Amino acid sequence: MSEKDHIADALLEWFDQHGRKDLPWQTNRTPYRVWVSEIMLQQTQVATVIPFYERFMAQFPSVENLAEAAEDTVLHLWTGLGYYARARNLHRCAKQVCASHNGVFPSDLAGLEALPGIGRSTAGAILSLAMDTRAPILDGNVKRVLARYHAVEGWPGQRTVSDTLWSFAEHHTPQERLADYTQAIMDLGATCCTRSRPVCERCPLERGCAASAQGRQSDFPGRKPRKQIPLRQRWLAVVTRAPGEVLLQKRPDSGIWGGLWAPPEFEEASAAKAWITNTLSLPAERCRIEEPFHHTFTHFKLEAHSVRAQCAENHPETIGVESHADNLQWFALHPPPSVGLPAPIVRLLAKLGKENPPRSN
Ligand code: ADE
Repeated sequence: MSEKDHIADALLEWFDQHGRKDLPWQTNRTPYRVWVSEIMLQQTQVATVIPFYERFMAQFPSVENLAEAAEDTVLHLWTGLGYYARARNLHRCAKQVCASHNGVFPSDLAGLEALPGIGRSTAGAILSLAMDTRAPILDGNVKRVLARYHAVEGWPGQRTVSDTLWSFAEHHTPQERLADYTQAIMDLGATCCTRSRPVCERCPLERGCAASAQGRQSDFPGRKPRKQIPLRQRWLAVVTRAPGEVLLQKRPDSGIWGGLWAPPEFEEASAAKAWITNTLSLPAERCRIEEPFHHTFTHFKLEAHSVRAQCAENHPETIGVESHADNLQWFALHPPPSVGLPAPIVRLLAKLGKENPPRSN
């Protein structure tokens, strides 16, 4: 690959003129700040991440602050970002950095990769961006740049394809200016070598780019083989209590929406109704099923039906309901609770809040 040996110089020159230098995680580049940004930026766009990142840093300025926080508070600040396993791993990782490393992130690849939620690319990003240490990265943007530059066929989710891309990533990583190089190749992928309609005429790598030479930019990287995603139907027991409370359950850590709060979920309408009638001693006729809402996950589409029931303020069965299951709790609708909530449940609570306006007195 000799004539293609020097993408680093061209990239660094481009970065000096066109790279992004004022993103919030680029100021005061500590391993902690870079790590949080990299986890948020997995699967989420820069523009979406920025306000979440700023709120998160204001609340948890250090890894110790994060380690000491309640999980519900961490998940609350993640509400709306999706992929909540990231937040739970982030919290676990902070605790581990404090408990086993005195609050200091390891400065080697193996030490970083041993931490929860940190894979090879995130470890590489922390080393290069925060410690200016030589380590390659291979996030989505970098995969696209390298797959096009070298016309690497196949979907990067396949091991052989990702091994090839990693060896190119390793090959191109320079000996100096590691933080700038890493930011440069990510920025090129985000702003120039974009997934659709790449701006090749402004690309510093265009002369050596195999995909551009072949006019096949849109063939790289190869796409994941498409499977029909299944529809999953679920029924949510949405119980409100006058004047303005809703009964929520903290979900188990594993599975979708792990650790977040949502109405109890059932696989059948009859099970949701039975739960409401048994737990709250309400007649089944008091349950009303609403139009479903939909939410698409990576592996399936959810169709969720609310089975609604409303209790009186002084309904005796509501008092001890929290003892029926550990994770059951009444929450006020005004203001909405400061715990982790899936985005569709935030919308559901807003609707319930409108139907049960706060009492003015
Ligand atoms: N995506 C992943 N890491 C990033 C970073 N540091 N800046 C911009 N986009 C990114």
